[in-house]
Amino acid sequence: MRVIPYLDLRGPLPQTAKPGEPHLALHKSTGNFNQKTWDETCRRLRALPEERWSEVGISNTCDLFRVFEPTLNRLSPEQPRLILDLGCGLGQTARTLAQRFPQARVIGLDASPEAIMVATSAFQLPNLTFRVADLSNPLPLAQGSVDLIVSTNALPYARDQRTTARGLFDLLSPRGLLLNHCRSEESHLFWDFPNSALLPDNTQIFLSDWMLPAREAGLATEVHSISLGTSAHFYLANPFPIFSEAMDAFAAPRRDASSRPYSPLFSHVLLAHSRLAEPTDTLPLAENHLERLDQVLPHVIGAPEEGQRAALIAWNFLAKRLALAPEALDFLMACLPVSAPVLQHMLAITS
Ligand SMILES: C[S@@+](CC[C@H](N)C(=O)[O-])C[C@H]1O[C@@H](n2cnc3c(N)ncnc32)[C@H](O)[C@@H]1O
Repeated sequence: MRVIPYLDLRGPLPQTAKPGEPHLALHKSTGNFNQKTWDETCRRLRALPEERWSEVGISNTCDLFRVFEPTLNRLSPEQPRLILDLGCGLGQTARTLAQRFPQARVIGLDASPEAIMVATSAFQLPNLTFRVADLSNPLPLAQGSVDLIVSTNALPYARDQRTTARGLFDLLSPRGLLLNHCRSEESHLFWDFPNSALLPDNTQIFLSDWMLPAREAGLATEVHSISLGTSAHFYLANPFPIFSEAMDAFAAPRRDASSRPYSPLFSHVLLAHSRLAEPTDTLPLAENHLERLDQVLPHVIGAPEEGQRAALIAWNFLAKRLALAPEALDFLMACLPVSAPVLQHMLAITS
């Protein structure tokens, strides 16, 4: 570790280690995080009709087509020939795509053989197939052969995000569209600050990991926030009832599937990559952790009052829990030059 006197800091910390310095690398697990759940629930799911799947008590039993339908209507090639649903789970969204585009071949892919078994027995349409596949490996399909790729809550599981992104963009046909709906790490950076300054959670997606490869591939990216799933439950400050109450007051009236302009205050994003997309100009592009954090925190300005209140509570609670002395907070502010004025104001209570 390198210790730099904070008074000398100007701008973000250097990100490249000098020779001999320890190098800390974070890797995603190669395992399927949901495997145990699938194993346990598969038999029960197969015995029930789709309308009763929600009774089994797992969270991914809904058709999420509606989440990306408006964006798909605007940006999809008119007559897609090959459509993929990546990490399709129980297959409802793939089923709706197959009904919606009867001329297309739709393939639902998932790493869980149990999920694929449920999907295959529940949904039988002439243009729909389900297969077991691990998204961490390249898919055996020809470059430029896929017109539409959708994925809901699954691409964060791919081990190497940028490699997966590049591989999928290569598969897209010239007017092809990739719609990725999932939880974004940026919302954890925001709500879990200052914990998030120390260590990223890294189980969601970092927007830049998809937006930078998209740019390399000549694709534009639209970023929409979807508040679905926003709740205190997911964040580190959750054990404090005062945070949960403030967060719920912010999130409850906004918890629906409609898309909004990008803001890290909301848990989920919908990324639409296509040559026809209208690139979001408040791009949260960042090459390193501090840069990303520094972009995310100022979103508190202009947030609804309840959102600001929840952030104030979370940030102060977590700062206290980390026992951050005033000098350490000053250090943090020196690392985050853009957000320093906001932090000074928000963290004044802890000093
Ligand atoms: C949270 S569920 C979402 C399922 C479905 N898309 C939905 O939104 O309801 C995540 C899915 O990704 C699958 N998955 C996890 N890791 C995977 C991987 N490496 N390759 C392919 N699928 C994976 C899981 O088996 C699971 O079905």
